[in-house]
Amino acid sequence: MSSQIFWYSARAAGIVAWALASASVVWGLALSTRALGKRPRPAWLFDLHRFLGGIALIFTAIHVLAVVADSYVHFSLIDVLVPFTGTWHPVAVAWGIVSLYLLAAVELTSLARARIPKRIWRRVHFASFALFALSTLHALTAGTDRRSGPFVVAVVAVCSTVVVLTAMRVAASVRRRPTLVSAPVAPATRRSLASSASN
Ligand code: HEM
Repeated sequence: MSSQIFWYSARAAGIVAWALASASVVWGLALSTRALGKRPRPAWLFDLHRFLGGIALIFTAIHVLAVVADSYVHFSLIDVLVPFTGTWHPVAVAWGIVSLYLLAAVELTSLARARIPKRIWRRVHFASFALFALSTLHALTAGTDRRSGPFVVAVVAVCSTVVVLTAMRVAASVRRRPTLVSAPVAPATRRSLASSASN
């Protein structure tokens, strides 16, 4: 048992990190779509969203350190930081490494949000969708528990929720975007357009 403690820790921390990162994405979408109505309060949802993202990063660090500490399959620090340098399922592990960098980028830009341009924060934050997709792909290709019933049910439930909320989010932003036909035109602009058309 003691020789397998790091392997069990890697698996458990991986599943918790994935669950927390996914919950953070779902909470973020619940916030932007207002899918839960006026209750719970947006400030509470926002705090929970940030908290979940922060501890997802901590559990990912535990997951990666346990993978390195486990002696059954040898992973060096380089193997867990640079994609395709290890020999154990290099593609499946690469999805995890890219997810780690995306998670770190989303968290660090959120911590520095007040000091960086909103446009940059927003673009990096959109990488959460790639983070969700890649970390799920990583779990389904690298994980020992990828065929266990409860894990598969959780993955299907979370993926369906994210797809539905993302569709609501896209629909809401399409509705909000002003079109040339519906955009309100100020009376002065309308007069000047009319006079230039008649000249
Ligand atoms: C440097 C980054 C990463 C490396 C090197 C890495 C490595 C690994 C390895 C070797 C496994 C197989 C463990 C086993 O035998 O089951 C695994 C599984 C897993 N990883 Fe990662 N991982 C990384 C990042 C991530 C991230 C960012 C997440 C989620 C946020 C994650 C979630 C998972 C999950 C859910 C499993 C499946 C655990 C199981 O089936 O029991 N990993 N990872």
